[in-house]
Amino acid sequence: MLEKIFLSLLLRLPEEVSHGIAIFLLKYSLVPKKKKLNLTSHIKFFNFKLSHPIGLAAGFDKNAVALPGLLKQNFSFIEIGTVTPLPQVGNNKPRVFRVLEEKSIINKLGFPNQGASKIFNNLYKVRKYHSLGLEPLIGVNIGCNKNTKNPLKDYEKCFEIFCSVADYITINVSSPNTPGLRKLQLKNNLEPLLKNLSTKKERYYKKYKRKIPLVLKIAPDLEELDLQSIVNLIKRYKIEGIIATNTSISKKIIKNKKYTQLQGGVSGNALYKKSNNILKKLQKISKGEITLIGVGGIDTGEKVFKKLKLGANAVQVYSSLIYNGISLVDKIVLDFNQLSKPNK
Ligand code: FNR
Repeated sequence: MLEKIFLSLLLRLPEEVSHGIAIFLLKYSLVPKKKKLNLTSHIKFFNFKLSHPIGLAAGFDKNAVALPGLLKQNFSFIEIGTVTPLPQVGNNKPRVFRVLEEKSIINKLGFPNQGASKIFNNLYKVRKYHSLGLEPLIGVNIGCNKNTKNPLKDYEKCFEIFCSVADYITINVSSPNTPGLRKLQLKNNLEPLLKNLSTKKERYYKKYKRKIPLVLKIAPDLEELDLQSIVNLIKRYKIEGIIATNTSISKKIIKNKKYTQLQGGVSGNALYKKSNNILKKLQKISKGEITLIGVGGIDTGEKVFKKLKLGANAVQVYSSLIYNGISLVDKIVLDFNQLSKPNK
């Protein structure tokens, strides 16, 4: 009840102000700790086993500052970032818009973040009491700075900085708000990026005997041929998985046409079908040989179930938390758990 009143107040404030308040409350653990759920199932997630498949998507805790509270919210994995080597402020405000009637979001943030060194320190502090391999896992989503001269080097720098504190690393080449970033999804650009990061991963493994799964996060606006070439490269360079998907540049997926002029990426309910479509194609092209993480428009246990049926091994949520509050995590997990019982 209290959460509902608080949420309706938050939804009256500008999105980034509400988000700032949520981050503050989580940072100082002022959000009630959730009771540990008694789940008996185990899902395989790279070289880990998780009690359920529901994680937090990148962008919510860009700077790894809200982890003290987030770790107590029953996610099975949490992805921080996107982190870039140098700190940057992102695009001019306003840059996050709610599409209330469709429970969707349009954002053109452009990777505002404190930069890799500071964020490493934030995560390092958390690792003193929440070790690697422990649920919820903590993945780090990496990107490049807006004004970089060498995007590939930016990803390599981030990999080097975070490899000792990340359970897995996501290569984000799909945010629509950094000019040119999504071109890294094209074969000629993607190949050297994956090759270099894969070599770094192998070297790390040889030295420390710990495997760091690498995951590629892709856009929902790709054509089948692009997906085909991405899957080929993923297999060639032994990248462990794909996250499908980031936000969409298509405003057609929003019913209310008054938003067509806004720039940025669409997430939430409006993205659900489009991201499912990509998941389905990836499953077919990869013949089920790649770990897939489904993201886009999840706000119920049924939708988790659907993404898993389409080929996902795990899922992530973000926009639905803006509209329903953090207690939605428990609800989705419990609903999903109920649905996946054998006689359902
Ligand atoms: C995002 N997303 C995102 N993704 C990413 O890889 N790096 C980022 O920094 C961000 N930032 C970000 C900010 C905001 C305000 C939103 C709404 C989204 C994309 C996010 O991780 C996810 O892929 C999409 O939002 C789709 O999932 P939902 O929101 O429909 O559950």
